[in-house]
Parts: sequence; structure tokens; C-alpha cells
Amino acid sequence: MRQSSLTPENYEKLSLFIEAHSKETDGLMPILHEAQNIFGYIPLEVQKFISSRTGISVARIHGVVTFYSQFSTTPKGEHVVGVCLGTACYVKGSQAILDKIKAELGIEPDQTTADGKFSLVATRCIGACGLAPVMTVDDEVYGKVTLKQIDDIFKKYNDE
Ligand code: FES
Repeated sequence: MRQSSLTPENYEKLSLFIEAHSKETDGLMPILHEAQNIFGYIPLEVQKFISSRTGISVARIHGVVTFYSQFSTTPKGEHVVGVCLGTACYVKGSQAILDKIKAELGIEPDQTTADGKFSLVATRCIGACGLAPVMTVDDEVYGKVTLKQIDDIFKKYNDE
């Protein structure tokens, strides 16, 4: 089981960052970036903490966190699996690849498997259209992916 990142030390780190940036007119974005970096996600508990330290309403913080895809309200898995749904990949069948991965992992995009091993995201173009359809696992890019290959790709990460 993974350790929770919601430790007193991490709250202390965020607290120091907020103090250092409290004078900025719009310090919310940097604070949220820092929170995402420190905790790996920004659950309601952390949103409330930021609200209490900045005076910004939880509603506003929640709105910003859920609007920007770089922020997440749930913990990311050990591996983040991305499937590109940009036009070039979509035309080459990336939806079927996403559907297969969804079925295999039993999760929807922006969710994490119960064992914390994988998170799934549907991405926009990642600039590798020549390799369409493209999927990624963490920083690794897999091009011209076929449905058959998916099991092999996952095997590599499941066997770790
Ligand atoms: S559309 Fe998928 S990499 Fe560009």
C-alpha cells in the first residue's frame, strides 16, 4: 500500500510556501502548483487548508483545481497511462485503444486503479502525430500501437 502524502511535514512545506507568496496579488496558481507537487494531488482537505491560510473561498479554489487538467483531486497511480485522442491519433483508432485499456484496468479516464498501480488519462495531441496512434506510460511513448500490443505493454509494468 502506498504511503499517504498528506503528512504534517508536507502541510508544513505548503504552509511555508503560502507565507512566502501571500503578498502576491494572484498567488493562487503558484500555490496550487506547489500543492500538486508536494502532495501529488489536491483533495478537498488540502483545498480547505489553502483556503484557511489565504482567505480565498474553498468554492473558488475548487473551481480552479477542477478546471485545469494539470491539477488532480485524486492521487495519481504509480504509473500514469495516457492515450492520445488528438485528431491524428483518433483517426488511427485511439478510441478503441482507450476503450480496451479502460476495460482492462476497470477504470475511466482520470481515475486510478484500486491498487494504486495505474492512472488513466485521455490526452490531447502530444506532438507525436507521425506515430499515431500514440499512448504513453509515464515518460515512455509508444507509437503505432495496436490492440494486440496493449497486453505486452502492460505486462512490462505489471511484472515489475
Ligand atoms: S494527435 Fe496524437 S500525437 Fe498528435
